[in-house]
Amino acid sequence: MTGVANLKPFTFIIFGGTGDLAVRKLIPALYNLYIENKLNVPFSVIGISRKQMSHQQYADFFIDGIKKYSRNKYEEDVYKKMGSSFYYISGDLQKDETYEQLKNILNEVEGKEKNRLFYLATTPVFFPVVVENLTKHGILHKGTVEPWHRVIIEKPFGSDLASARKLNHRLEQLIDDSQMYRIDHYLGKEAVQNFIVLRFANGIFEPLWNNKHIDHIQITVSETVGVGNRGKYYEQAGATKDMLQNHIVQLLSLIAMEPPVNFDAQSISAEKVKVIRAIRLFPGSNIVRGQYKGYTSEKDVDPGSKVETFVAAKLEIHNWRWAGVPIYVRTGKYLKEKTTGVVIQFNKPPHILYKHENIEPNRLVISIDPRTGFDIQFNIKEPTRGDVRIREVRMNFCHECEFGANTPEAYERLLLDAMIGDPTLFTSWEEIQYSWMLAEKMLQQYDKCPPLYNRGSWGPEEADKLITQDGRRWYYANIRRNNANPCGNGCIQKSE
Ligand code: BG6
Repeated sequence: MTGVANLKPFTFIIFGGTGDLAVRKLIPALYNLYIENKLNVPFSVIGISRKQMSHQQYADFFIDGIKKYSRNKYEEDVYKKMGSSFYYISGDLQKDETYEQLKNILNEVEGKEKNRLFYLATTPVFFPVVVENLTKHGILHKGTVEPWHRVIIEKPFGSDLASARKLNHRLEQLIDDSQMYRIDHYLGKEAVQNFIVLRFANGIFEPLWNNKHIDHIQITVSETVGVGNRGKYYEQAGATKDMLQNHIVQLLSLIAMEPPVNFDAQSISAEKVKVIRAIRLFPGSNIVRGQYKGYTSEKDVDPGSKVETFVAAKLEIHNWRWAGVPIYVRTGKYLKEKTTGVVIQFNKPPHILYKHENIEPNRLVISIDPRTGFDIQFNIKEPTRGDVRIREVRMNFCHECEFGANTPEAYERLLLDAMIGDPTLFTSWEEIQYSWMLAEKMLQQYDKCPPLYNRGSWGPEEADKLITQDGRRWYYANIRRNNANPCGNGCIQKSE
């Protein structure tokens, strides 16, 4: 058994139980944990949503999703066993009877231990409504005493600073902060967890990790899909609130933070907060927005919408370590490639001996998705006679080559962490609060219509200018990379 030692029997209650998130992420994640014997305790799942269906239909509702989105193959007998503890309530989240029904099912299914993990996967306006009703009906208690009651809160946490504060304030009146698990699924990605290890379990990077040796940092989170049927949500969000305020800021905070005193939630969060507080827009022209062609014809989108589906920004971290280092970030929908990656570009040597050669700077490339791994790029001499010819090569660590392809997905890791009560990979209120402050500074500049860009491009031309005007270029647009074969190009050999 590979089950987790301090896991206790629990009930997993999903509000928004038939939504996209439950189908694509939550239940496939649970299935993967189950089939890999990581959930070695009795548990039940209760879904709550508006649709009408029976308990059995609820379990069956996820079969296609598991087949499509789970990294482990669907096995009927395994899922049948897991699905036999699925329950469903069709109800209105504002009505008392929904919560009375929930209470009845809990009485029926729970044994002695009444540990409960609530997942708020509804539209955000229901977050406080659900928690208010759960406490009012005695289903969710305040405090960390046993049996444990924890609430996972999906993003977006608020729609601006004021609404996030209001939401947090209301939730804090009802439950303790330590019961709130504010999720940012990027923190559950394997490569993102590895940031901290790369930086603090190695001696070679940290001495260079500052404005004396780093020329700039780039973060790209590009997607090849559009807004799909999430037009209604996206109209309120746009790329800045949907991706930059949370995922990109989180990535940056882990890359830039000081060494924490300990590897626990509080120590790490304390360092992340210091970074997020210090992020500023770089002086001068610093934001580019874009909208993909055809966005305004998407379902539930205003035909005159000014919402951006692409945003790029030039940022700076105002502190001792990073002052003056430009940080270029960009994210968008319907771009050329699906890529999430961070590039740390080091300064060129102070004196170039090989004047006739175009020497590339050294880079550390951290690939998060779809490939996972690290590349270090450096220059070597080609084996020619006569003039020295210099060429860039890469040393790479490819996660898949070293550990195999079946890496747990972010939601698996995060659900399991919430079940055992480890908040390290969740975001604290302070992190969210300061991220909103940054996002608001950007949003204040959004008065004009964003320029249109072609689907399948790298966004509007202005985004290229944002970086080329500084004599630099986006890594993920201009350099041919060897993605086809992850083990090609100098993969570090597996250790014996
Ligand atoms: C979500 C955003 O948080 O992240 C989506 O709301 C986006 O718009 C998604 O598509 C991207 O996640 P990933 O893991 O596919 O990069």
